[in-house]
Amino acid sequence: MKLAIQALEKKHEKSNFDCGKSLLDDYIKKQARQDVSRDLSACFVLVDEANVVKGYYTLSSNSISRNDFPEPLRKKLPPSYTDLPTILLGRLAVDKTAQGKKYGDVLLIDALKRSMETSENLGSIAVVVDPIDEGAQAFYAKYGFILLPTSGKMFLPMKTIKDLFK
Ligand SMILES: CC(C)(COP(=O)(O)OP(=O)(O)OC[C@H]1O[C@@H](n2cnc3c(N)ncnc32)[C@H](O)[C@@H]1OP(=O)(O)O)[C@@H](O)C(=O)NCCC(=O)NCCS
Repeated sequence: MKLAIQALEKKHEKSNFDCGKSLLDDYIKKQARQDVSRDLSACFVLVDEANVVKGYYTLSSNSISRNDFPEPLRKKLPPSYTDLPTILLGRLAVDKTAQGKKYGDVLLIDALKRSMETSENLGSIAVVVDPIDEGAQAFYAKYGFILLPTSGKMFLPMKTIKDLFK
């Protein structure tokens, strides 16, 4: 099966998407195109040769309160930044028929690379995720995402991401 990652378009078939989490299924089926058209988020889909969506992720600009960041990181930043610019990887999901084949890995790496490229034109100190449950938290922790205890969100510093692609 030959797969590609593309920006979400009308031609992509998503009506049977099922990752096991109804919130994430409903989002791609009912809301993603509308959010993209309103410039609320960008959505990238992993599709097969028949344009059937096997996975997706979303990115949007975002900020995190300085007080939510761990002290060692906070100390290095000028105090004038009360909110720190970040990129939100809002959702990431793989269809059940494709889970366990490293496509989650492929989508996450693609999202991090795209975020790094974006940060060359729009300053962002980290990529932030908001894990849907403990399983999702464990998935992101595997890649080095650090928990922000105050919000339950997790982040990966842009510096770490840049080092990853050096
Ligand atoms: C989480 C999810 C995206 C992973 O995608 P996947 O294609 O099944 O995962 P991969 O095959 O790419 O696995 C990559 C690595 O993550 C690990 N992993 C996958 N799911 C995991 C989980 N729930 N908890 C911990 N680790 C997990 C795999 O074991 C693998 O590790 P390895 O390289 O050491 O073998 C997918 O299971 C999914 O869509 N789940 C439902 C939606 C969801 O929870 N999304 C999370 C973001 S909100």
